[in-house]
Formats: sequence, structure tokens, C-alpha cells
Amino acid sequence: MKDQTKTIIFITMFGLPVLVLAFIFGMYAFGCATTDSCTGIEKSAVTPIPTLIAATMPAPKVGAEAGPLVVKCQVTAVDLIGAWVTAGSPETDAFQFTDLKEQTCTATFKADVQKLFTEANLWYSGAAACTTCHYADIEKATMNLDMSSYAGIIAGSQRKDGAPKGNDILGGGDWETSLLYQMVYAPDGVSTIGRQVMPLARPASVPAEGPTIFAGTPVELSSE
Ligand code: HEC
Repeated sequence: MKDQTKTIIFITMFGLPVLVLAFIFGMYAFGCATTDSCTGIEKSAVTPIPTLIAATMPAPKVGAEAGPLVVKCQVTAVDLIGAWVTAGSPETDAFQFTDLKEQTCTATFKADVQKLFTEANLWYSGAAACTTCHYADIEKATMNLDMSSYAGIIAGSQRKDGAPKGNDILGGGDWETSLLYQMVYAPDGVSTIGRQVMPLARPASVPAEGPTIFAGTPVELSSE
């Protein structure tokens, strides 16, 4: 009897707390545990404060879709002007040329050719623009030549007293015999006709066909 009493006391003192702890743990583990199922508050599927705003911006465009700045052809200044003259020097219509990578490319006077005459530092660093000397006021401009506009280039040089038509510098469309070609094509910095090469004061280090520039777009891409 004495031992039995001891056992009962022992069970009561240690067994009961263990049972109680086990019960509480069981309630926790098999009940709500770490979920919100016991609180009565339903967790909404979406956070009330949007942390991620839906992307509404258009996806960035790649390749030809991104515009002509991404895919350009490479050509020398003289070859580009030559292709334009050979095509009949169109004012707005596109003309084709073959670039240094043998791609067929398309360009326009306004977007690709004109800057060769109107921009400084293009033929070489420190180069004056052709229009510094050959400008719209043809009575004062060097050689009475206006390189600043399409009409001025077509009208030609030697327009003394503002004559509407001067000396055709485009060789009637025959590039290699044109005066413009002879003034800008300079192997070893020297013109083939014994005149000063353009742009005036051009150093011999500038390639015969002038600088290589980015111009036009490959035909297979520009059609899109
Ligand atoms: C700093 C002034 C100056 C600049 C810049 C200049 N030229 Fe000239 N240009 C001249 C002079 C001077 C002549 C006469 C040269 C000679 O007779 O040897 C001339 C002659 C010409 C001629 C021949 C005209 C004719 O009837 O004989 C052409 C074409 C020409 N330039 C085109 C250009 C082009 C294209 C550019 C730009 C790539 C250019 N020039 C830049 C001063 C300039």
C-alpha cells in the first residue's frame, strides 16, 4: 500500500503536468498552429497595399523595331555622296548603296547626305563645315557655291551675281567625273586634278574617301 501511494503521488506530480503540456502542444500543433484559422480573421489573398504595380509600360523594342539608330550601315563619306549622285541626286526619295559589309542599304539626302556638308568636325576633327565657306549668300560665298541646301547644291558653283544656275558640280549624275568628287576624293591628301581638297585645309591623314560614317539602314530591315 505504501508503494502504491508513492506511485500515485509520483504520477500526479510528474505525469499530470506532462499530460497537460502534451495536451496544450497537441492543441497548438493540430489546431491553428502558425495559421490564422483560429483568429476568425480571414487572411486576404492580396495585400491591401499594392507592393507591386502592374507593368503597363510597353516592352522594350529590339532590332529594327527600335529604330534606325540601332542598325546602321557603314560607308565612307565619298561613297555615300557618290551613291546619291549616281541615283540621280533625289531630294526626298530614298536611294540605295552597298555598305562596307556588302549589305544593300537605303538612305536619303536629308537624313544621311546633307550633314556631310553642313556639320563641322565630320570629315576630320577640327574640320570646318562646307557651309562655313559655301553658304546661302552666294554672292559672298566661296566660289559662289551654296552647299547649305538641296537647291543650292543642285544649282552648282560659280553663280556670279546670284545667278540661279551655275556650274554643275554633280557631273550630270556621273559621279567620278563630277567636280564634287574631284574636290573631295583625295588619295594621300592630294586631289587628282591638282586643286585644293575639300574641306579646305584637310590634312593628308584623312582617308582618300573621307571618314567612314554610320548612315542609312539595311534594306531587309528598313522595309518593316
Ligand atoms: C574654309 C573654307 C572652305 C571649306 C570649309 C570648304 N571649301 Fe570648298 N572651296 C573653298 C575654296 C577656297 C575653293 C577653291 C579651291 C581651289 O580652287 O583650289 C573651294 C572649291 C570648292 C569646289 C569647286 C567649286 C568650283 O566651281 O571650282 C567645290 C565643289 C567645293 N569647294 C566643295 C566643298 C565641299 C563639299 C566642302 C565640305 C566637304 C567644302 N568645299 C569645304 C573653300 C572651302
